[in-house]
Amino acid sequence: MAANSQKALEYAHQHNAEFLSDLKELLRIPSISTDPAHQADMVLTATWLKRQLTNLGCEHAEIFPTQRHPVVYADYIRAGATAPTILIYGHYDVQPVDPVGLWKTNPFDPIEQGNQLFSRGASDMKGQVVASIKAVESILRTGSLPVNVKFMLEGEEEIGSPNLDTFMEEHKHLLACDVVLNPDAGMIAPDVPTIVYALRGLAYFELRVYGPAHDLHSGIFGGVVHNPAQALCELIAGMYDDQGRVTLPGFYDHVQALSAEERQELSRLPTDGQFYQEMTGVPKIWGDAEYTPGERVGARPTLEVHGLLSGFTGTGTKTVIPAWAMAKISSRLVPDQNPEEVDQQLRQYLKANAPSTIRWELTTFGGGPPSYTERDLPATQALVQALESVWSKHVVYKREGGSIPVVGSVRTILGAPSVLTGFGLPDDNAHAPNEKLDLPTWNKGIDALIQFFYNMEDTLQVNK
Ligand code: BES
Ligand code: MN
Repeated sequence: MAANSQKALEYAHQHNAEFLSDLKELLRIPSISTDPAHQADMVLTATWLKRQLTNLGCEHAEIFPTQRHPVVYADYIRAGATAPTILIYGHYDVQPVDPVGLWKTNPFDPIEQGNQLFSRGASDMKGQVVASIKAVESILRTGSLPVNVKFMLEGEEEIGSPNLDTFMEEHKHLLACDVVLNPDAGMIAPDVPTIVYALRGLAYFELRVYGPAHDLHSGIFGGVVHNPAQALCELIAGMYDDQGRVTLPGFYDHVQALSAEERQELSRLPTDGQFYQEMTGVPKIWGDAEYTPGERVGARPTLEVHGLLSGFTGTGTKTVIPAWAMAKISSRLVPDQNPEEVDQQLRQYLKANAPSTIRWELTTFGGGPPSYTERDLPATQALVQALESVWSKHVVYKREGGSIPVVGSVRTILGAPSVLTGFGLPDDNAHAPNEKLDLPTWNKGIDALIQFFYNMEDTLQVNK
């Protein structure tokens, strides 16, 4: 067994240049899921992936259309009925590139600078998709795969996976598995092998406040009309108290308390206030002082304003009372909150607090549930051992603040837990200009995935 994994690791090291060149090919296709102008690119990307998986040796590779962007499925099931089946999840869509002027290189022309590969999607998550495929390839070309694998690669994660639940419901048998490997989470730092065991969920809203029927002269009407921009700010200002806690009615009712044991585990995280201050450039960090920064980001919910729009924002001056104001708002959720409940709580808050001088409208967008994977799960431990053998360091356990909607859904629809990993770093500029991938970490990641597949065989047999 060890000898086999050695051969696969050698293969990966020898074929590193080819792996990277394949990744660059994938990165050149601008698969921006939210932008209808890139519809054809989504199909191109799916086709590229299907070809990779077919060349890999998968006997069944297929592109399944959905209402919007296709899902790529493929499997390699030759390890026998008693061997564990791992469903490898990935998303091939990427976020938009604006503000494009802030990119130092073309976002869809991947360029290496030192150890970094710059391109939209390099870190989130085409790099991780290719790493997973190449780990399987390294094993198949040097021996036999000790586990059964299935790939499910979607094109809608960055827009909240609106059609994936339906796809999974319709293909439960095809997707049946013991565990899901989800490499869309990341690491804390290149030298900190990280096990992500929980993710926050998301509920997303647009709040509009309407006042006068049209913009008004602020001299003629100022003092008798409640300015919608002001009213919106007042509503937003009331959503947090002065201790940094969300004020929506019942907001914390279903939030699971952290056990003393888990707080102890999380206290090993190297992410203190100074880490966040240095990472972000804020003059001082903020938030509920009863929890550490690592706890706040992973295990406590938020309500966040993403954007504000109202009135005159051009050059110079204009004295106007705007007719309306708008805010994009979202809430990051933790177990056992859910998006529907927060939707109700926000509506209740608005009903109770919106003044009668304005009218408001709340639109809800797709979100996703929070998730939690037991740390003692055999598959999690298989990953722990894989990371520790490649990095020669103990892992740290982290609750991640970001969201991956599929993780909650695979648990409810397929009954499978997810093991989360990924080799992206906090300063990879995911979703921002100049996204990049740290190539040495990526290469170690491929090694770790190879080890993981071998460990899975052992671990599950011990536990069966
Ligand atoms: N890969 C991220 C999620 C993530 C972020 C994991 C940070 C680990 C660390 C994923 O692609 C993502 O950005 N998800 C969105 C989900 C949303 C669009 C439903 C997010 O978290 O904002
Ligand atoms: Mn991602």
